[in-house]
Amino acid sequence: MNSTQQLRQLWQQLGLPASQLEGGPLHSRSPIDGQALGQVATTAPADVDALLARSAAAFKRWREVPAPQRGELVRRFGQVLRQHKVALGQIVSLEVGKITSEGLGEVQEMIDIADFAVGLSRQLHGLTIASERPQHRMMEQWHPLGPVGIITAFNFPVAVWAWNAALALVCGNTVLWKPSEKAPLCALAVQGLWERCCEAFDADHPPPAGQPPLTQDLCLLLQGSAELGAALAADPRVALLSATGSTRMGRAVAPVVAQRFGRCLLELGGNNAVVVCPSAKLDLAVRGIVFGAVGTAGQRCTTTRRLLVHESLHQDLVQRLVKAYATLRIGDPREAGVLMGPLIDEAAQVAMARALEQARQQGGVVVFGGDRLQGPGLQGGVYVSPAIVTMPAQSSIVCEETFAPILYVMRWRTVEEAIALNNAVPQGLSSAIFTQDLIEAETFLSASGSDCGIANVNLGTSGAEIGGAFGGDKDTGGGRESGSDAWRQYMRRSTNTINRGTALPLAQGVVFEV
Ligand code: UN1
Repeated sequence: MNSTQQLRQLWQQLGLPASQLEGGPLHSRSPIDGQALGQVATTAPADVDALLARSAAAFKRWREVPAPQRGELVRRFGQVLRQHKVALGQIVSLEVGKITSEGLGEVQEMIDIADFAVGLSRQLHGLTIASERPQHRMMEQWHPLGPVGIITAFNFPVAVWAWNAALALVCGNTVLWKPSEKAPLCALAVQGLWERCCEAFDADHPPPAGQPPLTQDLCLLLQGSAELGAALAADPRVALLSATGSTRMGRAVAPVVAQRFGRCLLELGGNNAVVVCPSAKLDLAVRGIVFGAVGTAGQRCTTTRRLLVHESLHQDLVQRLVKAYATLRIGDPREAGVLMGPLIDEAAQVAMARALEQARQQGGVVVFGGDRLQGPGLQGGVYVSPAIVTMPAQSSIVCEETFAPILYVMRWRTVEEAIALNNAVPQGLSSAIFTQDLIEAETFLSASGSDCGIANVNLGTSGAEIGGAFGGDKDTGGGRESGSDAWRQYMRRSTNTINRGTALPLAQGVVFEV
């Protein structure tokens, strides 16, 4: 079955109207075979104002709904996702080229964050603080923030929205989603499932007389160009803008949000390294490195892009990697056994070829891959062999994030040198060390160790669970999404002091008799 037919079938399975796939100006094509998947309607930039007004009105209603009840809506959405996991995962594969297991994994990430958010909906608690004044009490409350704008990238076209939306919703906020123009159908499918879930919820939770349904306008979808994201950044009604994508995009939106003192949550580029020490279990390291470097065709923000190897292992490890790379099946990501699908588009391959050329100019040797693959089953898609490049030094091209499967290999003598190399790039998302040596591992995780938001021991740089805070500093943008206490960014903190006495003692012992 070709991709066009498969998409139509999946659309039907999800119970979504076929009319959504026709007549719009935004063309979706499958990177697997270049077939047209759908022509999606877009949002006119002139309509953003009205959408924001709807979102702001919905926020006023939603913030009054008790948080556990908000959690109940998200719980139901998690159930809907469970029911449709396979179909939605296949749509992800079709539209962005992920292998089946990774498409399913992405939907699982949505389910996981939904569960996490449901639990949170009964735990959005603040501190009670001892007051210095007699018969006074201090406490913190966390209140809903307002409409949250979510900008997502093509490479995680459904999970990243879910990380943000699930938390935003239980925190009492509304959501406006601007997905990547490269993945409009994933967004449309998620929105369709969401709306169905809302209808059922509204039927069971009728609103007070004269009021619109509780879920009306809670999540709105804005399909189209970067202009829409720019409009969200500029509008003071967007209380928080959570943007995932390139550092370039972050540099464009962050100052606009800062100008109006809005909040930004940025999850931008990564340039993630794996450090391999002499004591490392090499079989483990090879598996972690290959999944990190080649998984999702090198198009995760957590992709392993740099390999920092102790000089004594360099030759052996590179040989093992070349051997492992040579066995990888590359092709139609829907086929069982295929581990790497296509790149998202021609531009990605141009960027990859340009980076490899620069690496060669900077003294690198491409010891494996880097070629465009042609042949039966690969027509219409951009398929490449993943590249391994040994570098004499961490030169300028290595410091850039090229969104393609290129692994630069460098060597070191002391673990301090390895940590310095790990940290000597502008980005700070993820990192990992393979070692059996406790001191090396702890040093890597310490204040003077890896400067990344994610630092792992004996596992790779990608594939984080939702329970931890996800993100990194420096050019990665500083945001933390998903688990841990990331929810606080979606709420505003109110410090309250309550006086149960009859006197009015002043703090700091100030005397002010009137
Ligand atoms: C991204 O590439 O934008 O840790 C997100 C991972 C995934 C998320 C990646 N859970 O690789």
